[in-house]
Amino acid sequence: MSKVAIVYWSGTGNTEAMANFVAEGAKEAGAEVTLFTAMEFDGGLMDNFDAVAFGCPSMGAEQLEEDEFEPMFIGCESKLSGKKIGLFGSYGWGDGEWMRNWEETCRGDGAQLVMDGVICNEAPDRDAENDCKNLGKALA
Ligand SMILES: Cc1cc2nc3c(=O)[nH]c(=O)nc-3n(C[C@H](O)[C@H](O)[C@H](O)COP(=O)(O)O)c2cc1C
Repeated sequence: MSKVAIVYWSGTGNTEAMANFVAEGAKEAGAEVTLFTAMEFDGGLMDNFDAVAFGCPSMGAEQLEEDEFEPMFIGCESKLSGKKIGLFGSYGWGDGEWMRNWEETCRGDGAQLVMDGVICNEAPDRDAENDCKNLGKALA
């Protein structure tokens, strides 16, 4: 059974709702899933999982959340090479620039992105729910 970690930061619950849908999709596809907030995860845990989904909303000016999520993610980057990785997150008024930059960083680190980053405007609607579940399935 494939082991999937879902690691997220969420200020107002939108990315958390996405994380729960990613978990649902991965479980439906037969994976053993563990959900972590950014503060509960670090690079030392990467080797325990076959695939990892990272979720973070667009914060700052098209940036990852910088107090908790970004330092944790930077600590995982040396473990991304060859790993099955999925990205997701919610945004407000932008056009998804933070996700494009984040995908580029992951590809530069050698990550195997299982699909394009899943983004949704504020709270996930039915389409975003399906995209999140499909991300979970792709990781499983
Ligand atoms: C401090 C702050 C900065 C933000 N910066 C951006 C931004 O640069 N681009 C954008 O599209 N949305 C931005 N947003 C909107 C959030 O990404 C959006 O509300 C998202 O749904 C929050 O997700 P969460 O509920 O998981 O925290 C920002 C929100 C906050 C609070």
